Amino acid sequence: MKPFRFLRQWIAGSLLVVSVAGCSNIQEEKRQVSLIPLPASWEQTGGVCRIDSVELFGGRPSDKLKIELEDRAEAGNPEGYRLEITTAGIRLQASSQTGVFYAMQTLRQLYADGSIPCGRIEDAPRFGYRGLHLDVSRHFFPKEEVMKLLDVMAQYKLNRLHLHLTDAGGWRFEVDKYPKLTAETAFRTESDWRKWWDGKDRRYLPEGTPGAYGGYFTKQDIREMVAYAADRHIEIIPEIEFPGHSEEVLTAYPELSCSGKPYVNGDFCVGNERSFRFMEDVLTEVMELFPSKYIHVGGDEAGKNAWKTCPKCQALMKKEGMKDVDELQSYMIHRAEAFLLSKGRRLIGWDEILQGGLAPEATVMSWRGEDGGIRAARMGHDVVMTPGNYMYLDFYQADPKTQPYAIGGYTPVKKVYSYNPVPVDSLTIDEQKHILGVQGNTWTEYIQTPEHLEYMMFPRALAVAEIGWTPQSLRTWESFKPRLNAHIPRLQAMDIHCFTLSDELEVTMAVDTVEKQISVLLDAEKYPAEIRYTTDGTTPTAASALYEGSIVVKDSAHIVAAIFRDGQLQGTPTEKAVDYHRGINRPIHYYNRLYSGYMAGGMNALLDGYRGGLTYLDGRWQGYLDNLDCAVDMGEVTDLHKVSVRFMQLIGPGVFQPGQVELLTSDDGEHYTSRGVVPTTIAPDNPDLAFQTYTFQGEWKARYVRIKAARVQGGFIFADEIVIW
Ligand code: ACM
Repeated sequence: MKPFRFLRQWIAGSLLVVSVAGCSNIQEEKRQVSLIPLPASWEQTGGVCRIDSVELFGGRPSDKLKIELEDRAEAGNPEGYRLEITTAGIRLQASSQTGVFYAMQTLRQLYADGSIPCGRIEDAPRFGYRGLHLDVSRHFFPKEEVMKLLDVMAQYKLNRLHLHLTDAGGWRFEVDKYPKLTAETAFRTESDWRKWWDGKDRRYLPEGTPGAYGGYFTKQDIREMVAYAADRHIEIIPEIEFPGHSEEVLTAYPELSCSGKPYVNGDFCVGNERSFRFMEDVLTEVMELFPSKYIHVGGDEAGKNAWKTCPKCQALMKKEGMKDVDELQSYMIHRAEAFLLSKGRRLIGWDEILQGGLAPEATVMSWRGEDGGIRAARMGHDVVMTPGNYMYLDFYQADPKTQPYAIGGYTPVKKVYSYNPVPVDSLTIDEQKHILGVQGNTWTEYIQTPEHLEYMMFPRALAVAEIGWTPQSLRTWESFKPRLNAHIPRLQAMDIHCFTLSDELEVTMAVDTVEKQISVLLDAEKYPAEIRYTTDGTTPTAASALYEGSIVVKDSAHIVAAIFRDGQLQGTPTEKAVDYHRGINRPIHYYNRLYSGYMAGGMNALLDGYRGGLTYLDGRWQGYLDNLDCAVDMGEVTDLHKVSVRFMQLIGPGVFQPGQVELLTSDDGEHYTSRGVVPTTIAPDNPDLAFQTYTFQGEWKARYVRIKAARVQGGFIFADEIVIW
């Protein structure tokens, strides 16, 4: 922040005025403080300033809290603020009402038992865009729930709520010019989105149909939400999907689709000028309701198939000299942008808007990883980072077997927190300036109730908030973890039905091929956590070894570890097989095709000592669209006793167990003898995340160890690790 130069100025308004009831002169011990997001600078000086909560959060004007607005000409970051808290009083300095608001949020978090700890805070956000996204189409959440989320967001200094208002699940706000959007396609036959989407009766129902599921925001609802957000220094960014994800529009107004029929297309007919009239009409009403600088026009996952044969789309392509249908999508987004710019607004869209050519001033929301964001920033476009593998809050946050059904993925809070929105290795310093910020997305295909929504959003949204606010150099998981734990009861006190953090343990390994050992590290989300473990596969007790840093495995261990509280084991123990086995880093030959997208780091992925975890995306699991057929060279003919290999199944994204696994051995690498076959025990329609270890035991002499795993379903098989003893 720039240095402040202050105009002394009292701010009217009860919320902003703090009065000091009397200050402690006693030098107290420094109180444990848990601020989220962590301020850019916070120095606790000891002692407290005693004040009355009524006076602090809504009392009468007082001359004890000094609020000073700085000279605007000298303003630093408009969201920044300074606090000086002494036993005598509180001095709050900011360059805008937003800064004052954020200072008050900090005071709110500092306040406990009638006092605020003394100290100095100098604070300003790292990014101007600190967002959450909510899908109200797949399941509808009423304005009361949105306002509840806005209350929590404000306390954590999040300042953008991206509302996904339209999609196949139902259109969710009133449009005067197109009344059928809500009258005919805001309700549907089934509340459970998946059942509805996959079922025989996937239909919309007219508003008022008894038993229909759905809902929408009236214009008045939206005005109230927008005003409520603005009071909390939050901007609501509406998203209206073009040209894809528009099944509901094209059912209400089939004339805007390529087929002209309801329930056929998901993409607007770009060759039909009426689609553009609809777009401009709807965006006009959207801009009347939402004052946000950015209007989100979707752009993701258009199917584009109908365009290939639609006479109108083909005629437009010919007229405009377009070479592929990507350019049709780009054409629509360009026109959306021109329209928004003409009204003084900016277009933002999902990273597919890069396809076929990015509109000149578009901002890109990068969700399919960071690549789209990196490309856009290199082209000089602004970017909001929201890569699925870190920022999707609808993904699992703990072992799926302990969680409500989710869309897949795995983004526990530590993973979310680890994300840095600035890809420093890929962008120059100038290009990095185009990263406006970060957003956590909650899609609601599998989330039907406000309680479930809050459970998925919180506490992970607090990690997003700190990523968006706190300087990267100050962010460590070790610092965040205890503060996060301290905020769970705060969230609960706000009636947020949050996930209360996992009792599972994160297991990481460090394979040391020089010392020929594996160091196993355990970490808990809970803090403090007394972790006890065994290495022989038995369930730990309160008398088992206390985890104190790392567990060194030189041969074979079956680690079972758990958190203990008051002598009681919490939750389900975490298990991990760890082997510094004889196959580690031996040469491997693959007889079949490898899949470049899932190499898990390369040719030794199956023999590196690192075991795949709960997600096939963790860089340990090797994935194949073919049988796995590979042979390991042990270097010389040797005694072998036990060989195993593990596979995972997760049918949602198309990952299946092999039908069977066969072990073969050979002395010369040419003539192989079968040593047995192990069939899978996991049904191919089992919807759960499921693992199977295929184990072979015997007494063999051989140099080559060959594994053949038969891929019998379409989709992938994923393996890790081959363990050879
Ligand atoms: C998205 O998740 N389709 C943006």
